[in-house]
This record gives sequence, structure tokens and C-alpha cells, in this order.
Amino acid sequence: MIPDKAPKEDVFHGSEELKKEAHIPSFEKYKELYMKSIDHPDEFWGDVAKDFFWKTKHTGPFLEYNFDVTKGEIYVKFMEGATTNICYNLLDRNVHDRKLGDNVAFYCTFQKHLSAPQRYQYESISNRRRFKAASSSTEQIELDRKSDTETAQRETDREGKEKTRPVPQVPWDPEVDLCWHSLIRGASDECEPEWCESEDPLFILYTSGSTGKPKGVLHTVSGYMLYTATTFKLVFDHQPGDVYWCTADIGWITGHSYITYGPLANGATSVLFEGLPTYPDVGRMWEIVDKYSVTKFYTAPTAIRMLMKFGSDPVVKYKRESLKVLGTVGEPINPEAWQWYYNVVGDKRCPIVDTFWQTETGGHVLTPLPAATPMKPGSATFPFFGVVPAILNESGEELEGPSEGYLVFKQPWPGVMRTVYGNQQRFETTYFKKFPGYYVTGDGCRRDKDGYYWITGRIDDMLNVSGHLLSTAEVESALVEHEAVAEAAVVGRPHPVKGESLYCFVTLNDGVTYNRPLEAELKKQVREKIGAIATPDYIQNAPGLPKTRSGKIMRRVLRKIACDERDLGDISTLADSSVVEQLFQNRCCPAV
Ligand code: WT7
Repeated sequence: MIPDKAPKEDVFHGSEELKKEAHIPSFEKYKELYMKSIDHPDEFWGDVAKDFFWKTKHTGPFLEYNFDVTKGEIYVKFMEGATTNICYNLLDRNVHDRKLGDNVAFYCTFQKHLSAPQRYQYESISNRRRFKAASSSTEQIELDRKSDTETAQRETDREGKEKTRPVPQVPWDPEVDLCWHSLIRGASDECEPEWCESEDPLFILYTSGSTGKPKGVLHTVSGYMLYTATTFKLVFDHQPGDVYWCTADIGWITGHSYITYGPLANGATSVLFEGLPTYPDVGRMWEIVDKYSVTKFYTAPTAIRMLMKFGSDPVVKYKRESLKVLGTVGEPINPEAWQWYYNVVGDKRCPIVDTFWQTETGGHVLTPLPAATPMKPGSATFPFFGVVPAILNESGEELEGPSEGYLVFKQPWPGVMRTVYGNQQRFETTYFKKFPGYYVTGDGCRRDKDGYYWITGRIDDMLNVSGHLLSTAEVESALVEHEAVAEAAVVGRPHPVKGESLYCFVTLNDGVTYNRPLEAELKKQVREKIGAIATPDYIQNAPGLPKTRSGKIMRRVLRKIACDERDLGDISTLADSSVVEQLFQNRCCPAV
């Protein structure tokens, strides 16, 4: 449960200035609203729903569910009977009801997108794509694509210089093809939205499973809409005049919830970024922050650690005085990176919201609220409204007070996934079978004496060394604390006596050379920080680590490298496969 009072020692607070304007200005207010969200969910979500447009009202209770496999099929229904349209709420409502029509929705960082041309006066294929994203019917997209191709062909012919790039030819078929330009001439700008049921599918996003094929996580209309809108508003404390920037890729869940749906539902102004944080130089992020006066900035620990490698100079070159709140997502942030983000990037002025969530949860589930929650570096702190976490031991018993075990949730919140698309069975097996009555996150978690939650890493990233459970994240954090190390990834390698041994991959900071004395120092560091049991058995110098496009280290691949097993399985989500070969070649070949 949430403590009555927030701790006073060893914590960081949001600024007084932020508290003055914040939606949730104090810990007491957070606690009061949290209790309301649990005791009276109908009232809590009813207040949230008032800001949205509903074609028809819902009829039953706000939330109906079964989380217990022993009692039948797992299901979650939110606002059954209501009909709405999410695009209408994200666009039309902001223009018609909220009078935000002249506000900027997205600042795009490339000039072509910034100077948006008038509709149907498109001149280049990239501008045409902008429109395509906004058009809704597949036929329209097909037509648009055809004329895109033709226009591109004409443009390339004219310019001549690009002749080498082949443009696909789509033959005209009078049986099925219609001319876009004549169809659209005189067509109305208005288009009646498709009114959807609350529980109609909104999108499916695939996420990797620890075994087998990726799972299609299904989210539905009303619950996801209200949940992403509310988490965005309160976790980033969205205020009029804010300029928000999330560096994620739009194709992943963070881009869905916190570039697209959440910000647009709030009528927010965002920076939309396509590029690398290190190009043309490592000050790129902060240059953009200054250029657009970004107030709320959201990125991943891996990006922070990478930039940290280059020191503070490229950051302090820029003012960053517009920044108010910083956020992280994707993995546990090691305290060292947290401190750098807080002290250097945020000038000790900006609270850091360490948001724990998953593709499956749809939005933040454990997170600080920037003006209300005292922060502890590395802790995702407390549950968001409507979320009830628990920590279970191996036998499925709920642990009270300070403890460590499996992180689970006891009841649904509006944005939780509804099923694995086309495979309800897999949905139930993956998330509900191990501990009946709970949604199992797959993450390990510790609760400290003040009730703060600390994610210790995936349970499947737990190592058992001589009967001691070790979290890879813990060992990685100890390695990264060494001044020579930029990033570390630790995996288990089967060991005949110990069960598992620790195989560590380390990426060194620019300019540092790997050698035996350094290796000895690193081993000593881990031993001293965690204990003799955690002393790394092997350390390999890794100039690059295998990562997914969302920046997550693929430990599964590292485990294979550690064991010199070449059969890697599906590595289609790997961002750069060349690092894998390099790591295989430079394996430290230990004599076991
Ligand atoms: C897993 C979910 C959430 C969108 C991006 C990743 C880890 C995520 C944190 C955090 C510690 C975190 C967990 C989780 N994770 N955020 N703030 N602290 N761990 O989505 O690919 O579905 O991954 O990412 O292990 O289960 P995803």
C-alpha cells in the first residue's frame, strides 16, 4: 500500500515552481486520488471520461473483469456499451470543442515537413506520405500510392540525376483503378467517423516472447484512450504552452502511447524527431531542446548512458532552460545514469519520471508524478491511478512490507491488453497461469522500507549462481559504475558446479583501452559492490551490443555468444546484426 507520508531522507523533490502549477501538487493529493481510483473506479474514470466525446454513453459498470484462470476465461471490459471514435477525440475534439485548431500538433525537425503545403498541391513524395498517414481507407491509400509512384516517376525523369533509383511501375487497370484527382475534385473535407464500440480492437503490436514467436498484444478503443490520455497528462504534468518531446520510434508502444495517442488526446504540442542522438554530433538532443524550447523530455536509459560516455561538455554547450520534467522508460535506470540525467541535463531542477510499463500495460503503471512523488534514483516509485501492484514469492504468496519477488498486478486498469491476438490460450498461459488471480509482469521487483518499488530486471534475466539469485541488472549497474565502462550486459553461462556463471559484456568509454589490469579492477568492483558470489567469471570487451530497434539489449543473443552457440533463432528485431559476428570472433574462450 501507499505510505501515508512520503519519506524525507535520501529523496529528490520536484521544484516549488512546478508544484505551483501541477495537476497533482503533493504526495497527499496523490494518495487521496489513488485511494479514490481504487475504491471508486467508476467515479474516478467517470471524471476522466467527461472530457471526451461519446456518441453513446456506456450502460454497465466502468470495469468488468476476470483475472483468475481457475474461475474461467480471462477478460477485461471497460465502458461496455459506449461508442466513440479515437481519431475524433484526438483531432476533431481539439479543434471544435477545445478551440486548439491553431496550435501546433507536431514540430517536425525536417524542413519539408515543417512547411506543410496545401492539400493536393503536393510536390514531393515525402509530402504525399504525410497525407497518406492521415487518410483512413485502404482504397484511398492504394490510390494515393499509385499516383505517388507516377508523380515520383515524372519528378525523377525531370531531375534526371536520380535516374539510377528504380521507381516501381504500377500498370493501370481500368477494372479496379479510379483516378484520384477526378474523384477528389469537389469532395467534401468532412467525413463522418466510424463509431466504434469501447471494446473494438484499436491496434495489435507485436512484442517478443521469452519462448517462441512474438505475441500480438491487442489494445482496444476506450480504455486505451482514457489511460494514455490520463497518464500523459499527469505523469508529464502536461500544461498549456508545453513543448513535449519523446525520442522513441513511433512504431513501438512508447511511440503509440506517448507520441501519438496520449499527447494528441491532450491537444499537446510535440517535437517529432527522425534521426540519431549522435548525428551530426552528440549535442543533437540538447540543440533541439533549445531550438523548440522543449519543456518535457522523454527518452531511454540506454540513450542517456550512451550520451554520458561523451561527458558533460556537449550538454552544457546548450542552455536547456526550458526543460521542466525529464522521463525515462524501457529498462531500469542505474543510479549513476539517473544522477547524470538529473544533475547535468536537468541542472538539478527537473524531476525525473522513471516510468515502468510494458507493451502489454498500454501505459505507465509504476511511476512518479513529477510534483508529488519524492524520487529515489533507480526506483519507479509508486503505482499510477487504478493500478494495484503486489510482490509474490515463488509459492505465490503476497509479501508485505520490504520484500523482493515477482511483480504482479491484482486488478486491471483501463489500458491493459485484452488478449494475444488470435491466441487467447497463450495470453492466459503467459500472464495469468503462474499465479492465478494476478497479471504477471515477468519482472522481478523489490519494495523498500518506504514502500518504493524497484524493478530488478526480468525474472528471466535472473541468474542462479550457487543457489543465490542474482539480477543481471544489479551486476550491470556495478560494472557501469566504473569510470571506464559505458554500458554492460550480463548473462548466465551454464557451469557444472555453480549452476550458472557470470559472463559479462562491457562497452568501454571512448578512448579507454581494454587490458588485463582493467579486467581485474572490474571484477573487484562487482565483488565489492554486491559480494563474492557476484564476482564475474568472464568479462568480454564489447565495442557494440546487440540491441533491438527500441534499444533493448538482446540478452538471449548474448547468452548464445557466451556459450559459442551459433544457432541464434529469430534475430529479425536486431538493429545491427554485424555486432553479433564481431562478438563471436572476440569471445573470451574460457577454460571451463
Ligand atoms: C519491459 C517491457 C514500456 C515501453 C517500452 C518497453 C522493462 C520498461 C522500465 C522501467 C525498469 C523497465 C521491463 C518491462 N522496463 N520500463 N522504467 N524500469 N524496467 O516496452 O518492450 O514491452 O518492455 O521493459 O522489464 O517488463 P516492452
